Amino acid sequence: MTNFTENQINIFNLTPTPFYYYNMGLLDLTLQILKKEAEKYGFEVHYALKANANVPIIQKIREYGFGADCVSGNEVTRAVEAGFEGSKIVFAGVGKSDEEIITGLKHDIHSFNCESIQELDVIDQLAGKMGKTAPVALRLNPNVSANTHKYITTGLEENKFGINQWELETIVEKLKTLKNIKLIGLHFHIGSQITDLNAFKSLCIKINEFQLWFKQKRIPILNLNVGGGLGIDYHEPDLHSIVDFGSFFRVFHDFLDVYPGQTVHFELGRAVVAQSGSLISKVLYIKNGVNTDFMILDAGMTELIRPALYQAFHKIENLSNKDGKLQRYDVVGPICESSDCFGKALNLPITKRGDLIAIRSTGAYGEVMSSNYNLREKVKAYYFDKL
Ligand code: LLP
Repeated sequence: MTNFTENQINIFNLTPTPFYYYNMGLLDLTLQILKKEAEKYGFEVHYALKANANVPIIQKIREYGFGADCVSGNEVTRAVEAGFEGSKIVFAGVGKSDEEIITGLKHDIHSFNCESIQELDVIDQLAGKMGKTAPVALRLNPNVSANTHKYITTGLEENKFGINQWELETIVEKLKTLKNIKLIGLHFHIGSQITDLNAFKSLCIKINEFQLWFKQKRIPILNLNVGGGLGIDYHEPDLHSIVDFGSFFRVFHDFLDVYPGQTVHFELGRAVVAQSGSLISKVLYIKNGVNTDFMILDAGMTELIRPALYQAFHKIENLSNKDGKLQRYDVVGPICESSDCFGKALNLPITKRGDLIAIRSTGAYGEVMSSNYNLREKVKAYYFDKL
C-alpha cells in the first residue's frame, strides 16, 4: 500500500535519485487546519525554520500569516528573504554570535529568546551601539520531562538550554541595569517529537508558577512563548497525515493561565512539515547477509540522518513492488558507517536492483540535516501539487 499515484511513480522512475519529494497539497491542507485551530484561541504560530528552510515551503507558510522561529543569523536572513516581516520573527539559541545578534537587530525582529545572563549583556551592548532597544523574552528552563529521545529533550535542568529557576532573581536585578533591553515575554521549549500531551499539561502548570512569581514582583509579561515539540506518527504517515492540532491547542487553552492582554505563541516545526516530505531512492544492490539480506539504497545518512542519530523510525515502502511476497531486509545506505541504516529486519515485498523506495515523513529534519560526508553531492528537491 502506498499513497503515491501511478503517475507520480512514473515520474519518479524518470528522475535521478535520490531526491526529496514534497507534497505541497498536503502542506496546504496542514496549514489550513493549523490556522483554523490556532485562531480558535487567538494563538500565534511561529514556524520553526530549523525543521525545513526551503524557500517554496517557508513562503507558503508565510502566505498563511504565520511567523518564523529562527535559531541562527542565516535563518533570520532566509526568513526575511522569504518575505517574513521582522516583527514576525523570533530568534532563539544558546550561542548567538555578535554578528547574528546584529542581524536580528537590523531587521527589528519581534524578540530575542535569551538563554543566559551573559547573552543579555552582549545584546544590551550591541543594541546600545546601534541606538536600538532589543525586545527580549527570557527562555526559562521549566525542568519538565518531555518523555522523548534524550537527544531531543531540552527542558530539563541538566540540559544546556534556558535559564534555571534559581537564576531568576539575579536576572531580574540585572535587567534593571540594562538600558537597551526591553523584557517582553517568557519562552519555553521542552523537547521535540512529543506524543504524550500530558507533557504539555505539565509545562502549562510550570508556566503558571513562573507567571505568579513575575506577577508578585510586578513585572509585566506580554508574551508567553510555549515553544514547539508536537510529535507526529512516523509509523502510519497516511492514516495520520495531519497532526491533531485541535487537541494540542486545547491543552494550552485548558491549563495555561493567560492574563488579560497577553498573547500566546507557539514554535511548531515538525508537526507542520514532516508528513509532506519523502526521500525517494533506488535500490543499488541486494546483498545476502547471515540473517537478513541487505537492501543497499542510493540514499544514505547524508540525506536522512535521523535513524543513525536518534534510532528514529521512518516508514519504508517499495514503490515498484507494492504487494508481493514479503522478505526480511536491513535497509541501508552506501555511506562507510555501520550506523548508515534506515531500518533493521524489515519485512518488505521482494525487492530487486532498480526498485524505487520511499522513506516517509522526511519533511522535517531531513534535508536541513543533510551533509556532504564522503563528498556526496547535495540532492535535489521537487515540489508536487497533488494532495
Ligand atoms: N523551538 C525551539 C526552541 C526548539 O529548539 C525547537 C526544536 C523547536 C521550537 C521546534 O520543535 P518541533 O516542533 O519541530 O519539535 N533534529 C531533531 C529535532 C531537533 C529539534 C530541535 N529543536 C529530530 O530530527 O528529531
